[in-house]
Amino acid sequence: MNGGMKDKVAAVFGIANHRSIAYGIAQALKEAGVRLALNFQNERMGKSLDKLTGDLGDPWRRECDVTDEEAVQSFFAAVREEFGGVDYLVHSVAFAKREELGGNFVDTSWDGYEMAQHVSAYSLIRLCRHAAPLMEGRDGSVIALTYYGSEKVVPNYNVMGVAKAALESSVRYLASDLGPKGIRVNAVSAGPIRTLSASGVGGFTSMLDIVAERAPLRRNVTTEDVGKAARFLLSDQASGITGQILYVDAGVSIMGM
Ligand SMILES: NC(=O)c1ccc[n+]([C@@H]2O[C@H](COP(=O)([O-])OP(=O)(O)OC[C@H]3O[C@@H](n4cnc5c(N)ncnc54)[C@H](O)[C@@H]3O)[C@@H](O)[C@H]2O)c1
Repeated sequence: MNGGMKDKVAAVFGIANHRSIAYGIAQALKEAGVRLALNFQNERMGKSLDKLTGDLGDPWRRECDVTDEEAVQSFFAAVREEFGGVDYLVHSVAFAKREELGGNFVDTSWDGYEMAQHVSAYSLIRLCRHAAPLMEGRDGSVIALTYYGSEKVVPNYNVMGVAKAALESSVRYLASDLGPKGIRVNAVSAGPIRTLSASGVGGFTSMLDIVAERAPLRRNVTTEDVGKAARFLLSDQASGITGQILYVDAGVSIMGM
């Protein structure tokens, strides 16, 4: 089951609480014997992380806001000191202002656009830049989390759809850039899951209802479903896969009508 992942090191960005997709991924990695290095966005998030890390075996963790270049640099310097390097990077981070996740897309503000891009898309490039040197000689693997609203219009997803399009394109450019160093970069496109971030998207509950009704599997996905797929993509089982978007959405994205 562990796919040769025992004692590998994963830097996991994006656990806010036990509903977070990153939490499901961290659990799947822990089951495979992976050692975890977690970030938390700020002091408040750090306190809530303290409450749930027991289940993850009290992993190493450090504050790191992904919009802060110096914070990212010192996060990975500390990871190098603690673990000697890193094998896997999980980017499960996104943010857009609530007012941008509803109403008319044409009213998107520059501030809202810039913030969504910075936190949700550019941060992947920044994390890869600092993680890649720590992956040298280790067959590194990176995953990011995306959503179908990047390619088709999903009501209210608005500015985040455009940020996810940039994120998915960045996955391909990073895969091309880092491939010669043996580093793979992929994304998981997850179906809707009720999390803190998702609650900011207008009409989110109806998205869950539509998936349960129309998806081939007639259900929504869980963080456990996503965790297992993420573990596969990170592991050596996916050694020939890079630059891809893997849909973990109960099949809903294949439906035309
Ligand atoms: N929940 C869904 O329906 C769904 C579907 C597809 C993809 N996704 C994606 O999954 C990823 C994780 O989201 P989630 O649904 O688990 O929500 P979540 O709210 O649990 O996680 C989002 C995380 O982003 C972190 N974050 C935001 N701004 C940050 C910053 N400046 N610096 C550091 N961390 C920051 C938050 O602290 C939080 O831990 C996101 O990329 C999201 O877009 C979610």
